[in-house]
Amino acid sequence: MKGIENKVIVITGASSGIGEATAKKLAEGGAKVVLSARREDRLKKLALEIGDNAAYFKSDVSSAEDMKALIAMAKEKFGRVDVLFANAGVMPGSNMSELKTRDWMSMVNINIVGVLNSIAAVLPEFTAQKSGHILVTSSVAGTKSVPGNAVYSGTKHFVRAMLDSFRAESVMEGTNIRTTVIYPGAIKTELLNTIAPSETKKMVERFYEEVGMEPDVIANAVLYAISQPDNVDVSDLIVRPSRES
Ligand SMILES: NC(=O)c1ccc[n+]([C@@H]2O[C@H](COP(=O)([O-])OP(=O)(O)OC[C@H]3O[C@@H](n4cnc5c(N)ncnc54)[C@H](OP(=O)(O)O)[C@@H]3O)[C@@H](O)[C@H]2O)c1
Repeated sequence: MKGIENKVIVITGASSGIGEATAKKLAEGGAKVVLSARREDRLKKLALEIGDNAAYFKSDVSSAEDMKALIAMAKEKFGRVDVLFANAGVMPGSNMSELKTRDWMSMVNINIVGVLNSIAAVLPEFTAQKSGHILVTSSVAGTKSVPGNAVYSGTKHFVRAMLDSFRAESVMEGTNIRTTVIYPGAIKTELLNTIAPSETKKMVERFYEEVGMEPDVIANAVLYAISQPDNVDVSDLIVRPSRES
């Protein structure tokens, strides 16, 4: 497919949900995909399913060393990196008053530090080659604030602000790096598994069951952003179920 074929695309959080669906979609379009996550068995299965255009690397986004090794592996395997899809994330929601500080730190480490680690690992390549594309998965929760998800929402606002500043810097520096923030609404994935059992969790599960969309919908949005001509930057894409406010 035009704009996708032979691009080397590194995807974090590729072992399930949005990352997995996107890897399949991009590979169908002729891209070479490098799959990253912690569950190696899932990555291996997906890479086998995709075939020669896939490679995988067990890695934790909260480790800067893992992210450097991931990018090095992608370069060694396919010769270059064209796109980073920084998608890994967790959502163990709770009210602040519950003081689930371990969950707060986990969201900061994965949803913020993890995104920064992956960008830091790929940026020297993109700067040197004066081209590249960074996509980050934020959330509808990154466009507003809702009770029960304060820290998660904060991490998703962070990626929006950070990437928006970076986009302007890249324009100033003439490095030609495109950026896209994707803001999904309710998508049926494994994301809710990280919420502790509670009435709120049951409510969220019911809502997802009723209106949630398949992850393929977000894969289409990523495909759209990447496949645009080099002089087109699709900066922000909010994609939510028509029945989600
Ligand atoms: N589903 C939704 O409704 C929704 C809505 C808005 C935004 N999002 C965002 O979409 C992104 C993908 O989530 P999803 O919905 O597809 O859920 P998912 O199926 O649970 O996928 C999350 C992915 O992140 C990976 N991951 C988690 N912690 C990691 C770590 N420390 N290092 C490396 N990989 C890690 C997981 O792999 P391993 O466990 O194998 O490491 C998995 O591949 C997240 O950023 C999420 O916040 C989802």
